[in-house]
Amino acid sequence: MTDYIIKDIALAEYGRKELDIAETEMPGLMALRAEYGAAKPLAGARIVGSLHMTIQTAVLIETLVDLGADVRWASCNIYSTQDHAAAAIAKAGVPVFAIKGQSLEEHWDYLDRSFQFPEGPNLILDDGGDATLYVLLGARAEAGEDVIAVPQSDEETVIKAQIRKRMEQSPGWFTRMRDQIVGVSEETTTGVHRLYDLMKNGQLPFPAINVNDSVTKSKFDNKYGCKESLVDGIRRATDVMMAGKVAVVCGYGDVGKGSAASLQGAGARVKVTEVDPICALQAAMDGFEVVTLEDVADSADIFITTTGNRDVIRLEHMRAMKDMAIVGNIGHFDNEIQVASLRNHKWTNIKDQVDMIEMPSGNRIILLSQGRLLNLGNATGHPSFVMSASFTNQVLAQIELWTKADEYKPGVYILPKHLDEKVARLHLEKVGAKLSSLSPEQAAYIGVTPEGPFKSDHYRY
Ligand code: NAI
Repeated sequence: MTDYIIKDIALAEYGRKELDIAETEMPGLMALRAEYGAAKPLAGARIVGSLHMTIQTAVLIETLVDLGADVRWASCNIYSTQDHAAAAIAKAGVPVFAIKGQSLEEHWDYLDRSFQFPEGPNLILDDGGDATLYVLLGARAEAGEDVIAVPQSDEETVIKAQIRKRMEQSPGWFTRMRDQIVGVSEETTTGVHRLYDLMKNGQLPFPAINVNDSVTKSKFDNKYGCKESLVDGIRRATDVMMAGKVAVVCGYGDVGKGSAASLQGAGARVKVTEVDPICALQAAMDGFEVVTLEDVADSADIFITTTGNRDVIRLEHMRAMKDMAIVGNIGHFDNEIQVASLRNHKWTNIKDQVDMIEMPSGNRIILLSQGRLLNLGNATGHPSFVMSASFTNQVLAQIELWTKADEYKPGVYILPKHLDEKVARLHLEKVGAKLSSLSPEQAAYIGVTPEGPFKSDHYRY
């Protein structure tokens, strides 16, 4: 029986070739296979994965399997799947449910399917928190709480319908799933915000590892990853000449810093909007003009949101934009741009994930990936090397949760610094970096040991 939903299994061979190449660029994951492949620390683990089904994720999945885990996978975004990657994984025998361009209804159905191990999963590997949300919201609904009654958005309507369907098919299912999950590891800033909210409200029933805030994740993937993949997405979507254009980056956190650098590297004149005075000052001292969106809406050529916040580019901004302005988002969810408010405008589809929308003034805007993260919707996301650092943290987090479940109470944790440093160390050789070492006297002088950790927890990098 085929236990997968993918675009086309015939793409598996192409996927496998790209996987072979990606492995050569993912030294952290390959080192974990060499270190732990024989010991199988994840034996008995049944991991439900909800994370962009790309070539790099395929290498992550095969690493988890190599370490002994059973895995089922769904993508965490309707546009981010690479169909050849999904095919290669399906062909290798891992149940995967992901198609580039799947509908929202399919998206939540596929997430549900990724939970359907015969005995249910015991670990979640999440990106953005949808898998965690699904179980916890469903369990609250089963407990009689009025949480699925009134949807606030189109997507909520779909999620709540999916929860209702599962409750009818398998009474008590969500509660059973919640009770057997021993932990979750979370990939991204937005998912981490959700976890801290759950913890604050006393609604997090299991331990969670915040992978995003490993230094070797957010200071690399969010920054250097976006530096490569943002412009890649805009180019594949539009082929627009970037040099000389005025680009506005909304938000100057880790993703904003990488995105501004990406556009600057392509020759664009970059402006930044921020609400946080520290990040605004960083942007100014990195050489970017800090502006308000209102002041530049009618003059800039390219607008990119990177905030993880809602309603950042609103209808009034889009109405002010000049003809053929490009609008896109690289943050996790599509609510950064008020796409819903454009639905009653005239849309012309140019190609997959590129739409032209006519404003009442007659000016048109080019909207990328309907406001969903454009580096994965219009291109192929970050390069393998930087994802190796992120996913090495993911695998270490899964091992930690599975092998030390008793040591963690419900709460949100960050991997210890020695593991963070280990992840970086595993990536040095590939870039030809030679590390210096501390003499015992030097180590004592700065208050560390020669083997590390080399920084205190409050150091900010
Ligand atoms: P962050 O918290 O470091 O940065 C967000 C910045 O936006 C903050 O500095 C904040 O002050 C600013 N901001 C918030 N509201 C604003 C507003 N209304 N106007 C202007 N600035 C505003 O978060 P990070 O790590 O940069 O992540 C941003 C988003 O990108 C999250 O949703 C995250 O999940 C996602 N992400 C996407 C990736 C991708 O490949 N597409 C990779 C990594 C993260």
